[in-house]
Amino acid sequence: MAPSSVLMLLLCNYIVHAYWSPAAHEIIDMTYAVSEDSLVWPGRERDGFRYKRIYRGPVDFGAGWLEDNDICRPEHQSTHMDAPAHFARGKWHVQDIPPHRFFGTAIKVDISAKADINPNSNLEVEDLMNWERINGKIPDGAILFVFTGWGKYINNRTAFFGYNGTGNARDSDGNSRLNFPAVAESAAKWLAENRRISAVGIDSPSIGPSKTALAHLPLSKNNIYMAEVVANLDKLPPKGYSVAMLPVKIKDGSGGPLRIIAFKTVQISPDPADVIDLTYPLDNNTVTWPGSASFELLVRRRGYTRLGNNTVWLESNDFCSPEHIGTHLDAPAHFIKGSWRIHQIPAHTLIGPAIRVDISKKAANNPDAVLTVKDLRDWEYENGRIPDNAMVFLYSGWGKYVNNYEKYFGTTNRTHWKNDQGQALVHFPGFSGEAAEWLVNNRKIIGVGTDARSVDAGQTTSLPAHVAFLGAKLLALESVANLDKLPPTGYTAFVFHMVHVDGSGAPTRLVAVKNSAISLKYHNIVKKMYARKYSRKYSRRFGF
Ligand SMILES: *[C@@H]1O[C@H](CO)[C@@H](O)[C@H](O)[C@H]1NC(C)=O
Ligand SMILES: *[C@@H]1O[C@H](CO)[C@@H](O)[C@H](O)[C@H]1NC(C)=O
Ligand SMILES: *[C@@H]1O[C@H](CO)[C@@H](O)[C@H](O)[C@H]1NC(C)=O
Ligand SMILES: *[C@@H]1O[C@H](CO)[C@@H](O)[C@H](O)[C@H]1NC(C)=O
Ligand SMILES: *[C@@H]1O[C@H](CO)[C@@H](O)[C@H](O)[C@H]1NC(C)=O
Repeated sequence: MAPSSVLMLLLCNYIVHAYWSPAAHEIIDMTYAVSEDSLVWPGRERDGFRYKRIYRGPVDFGAGWLEDNDICRPEHQSTHMDAPAHFARGKWHVQDIPPHRFFGTAIKVDISAKADINPNSNLEVEDLMNWERINGKIPDGAILFVFTGWGKYINNRTAFFGYNGTGNARDSDGNSRLNFPAVAESAAKWLAENRRISAVGIDSPSIGPSKTALAHLPLSKNNIYMAEVVANLDKLPPKGYSVAMLPVKIKDGSGGPLRIIAFKTVQISPDPADVIDLTYPLDNNTVTWPGSASFELLVRRRGYTRLGNNTVWLESNDFCSPEHIGTHLDAPAHFIKGSWRIHQIPAHTLIGPAIRVDISKKAANNPDAVLTVKDLRDWEYENGRIPDNAMVFLYSGWGKYVNNYEKYFGTTNRTHWKNDQGQALVHFPGFSGEAAEWLVNNRKIIGVGTDARSVDAGQTTSLPAHVAFLGAKLLALESVANLDKLPPTGYTAFVFHMVHVDGSGAPTRLVAVKNSAISLKYHNIVKKMYARKYSRKYSRRFGF
């Protein structure tokens, strides 16, 4: 086969995969759904994930059904991130981590054999050397996972933490009572000094080690973030996958709920300029739906603390939050009785081409402006047919009002969105019912989003857009940030929401990655025939 045939094959790939959205078999969801039964760090059981308020019942608007809850939880429970600020004063909090670092080559180092024999076994420098001898040098920007096999104990507190007592994880001298496999301080130091990785993840309770926690320090001081209680690491091969892990964007968070998904068929390696963060940080001032509870960051620790024989910096917080606040996802069950709750949304449907439809001109002087079928047709006339599996973002320009309650909601009333006659008090742009139905019936999209507070325009109480989108089990994202920066096409959206069992919606980390930073793995046939000669030249960033 001549090089020109190779180009033809690549071109076929280019056409078939002009837009990427993974199939179910191409991903590994490495996230546990948190619930009131999830394990909590010993001694902190009372502060574990819980529902603070649950509403499930009939209402006199929309489709006649509403589910809407408030939750409280620690940052560091179930699958979560430790931001560098957790253990290193002045280092990155969650919102400071540049979003391109949430994507990278996934590699897995397996220490499960020795962990089975001794639960206090750790990843050592030697294990990293062995991995590199077989697989080559750990690539720059990699996300390194340590497989201990501890996932099998996720429902057994005694086995998972290596602790059968009821009290604090540390005794009165500050010595740890826990026993689980983790990362040796020396291995953490070696990684921080000799390799340029973005993150380290582990399936056990912590990067550890269980007796000292000191592996956190060299990583944190080098702004390498950590993922703990990672699910399904048994399914990840030692190399060949890429991964995205996106934390809920808690302002000044020392960590937080983390969604992790690994991909078999693509390489995702964005530069800083290739990622647009479409998420607002959550803090106590985040505007909240009329009458709804506020987000509350509850600082538990921020200072030096004794850990065994050492004194270390420690920050950690809990938070309470409505499900529907800030940049968030509505699950179909929010308004559709009996439909999917947040943990039932299939993970592979969270990723697809991002397109933006701009109605900001007509909305500038009319807070009741709606996106119409004509706007969609005009968009297609300019940009081509809305691709399959697209996320359709409505850009109204309302993002500029997000810190101004009266402008954002179009009312001064902070407790009611409807008056006693049932008429809507709120004003902001949204999708018209016709446009929503047209999208559902004529295009094969995975979801929609808006920079305003609801996918429905403020002035409707029948909520036709919600009913159409959620009725079709599509994603509905609200208060999407930075839509002014998103071009009409050319990006892929990652909708990584917090996963809690039975949620009606969830705070979501939403980012868009430039398509040119996502390359399909080399076509298999070509790979076999031309691996040596051409792979380096064509396999990366051939662009689409
Ligand atoms: C949990 O783990 C402990 C310690 O490994 C073991 O003794 C116990 O039988 C396990 N419990 C269950 C229910 O599997
Ligand atoms: C807990 O572990 C300790 C030390 O291994 C052991 O002596 C004790 O009997 C265990 N207690 C329970 C309730 O299993
Ligand atoms: C957020 O609000 C809660 C409740 O009023 C309060 O306890 C907490 O200290 C506040 N957090 C910050 C960071 O101000
Ligand atoms: C703390 O120091 C004491 C005395 O040097 C030593 O026996 C002990 O093993 C140390 N603890 C840890 C967790 O390193
Ligand atoms: C908000 O609206 C409700 C319902 O119409 C009304 O009872 C209440 O007085 C209003 N509050 C303010 C501050 O206008």
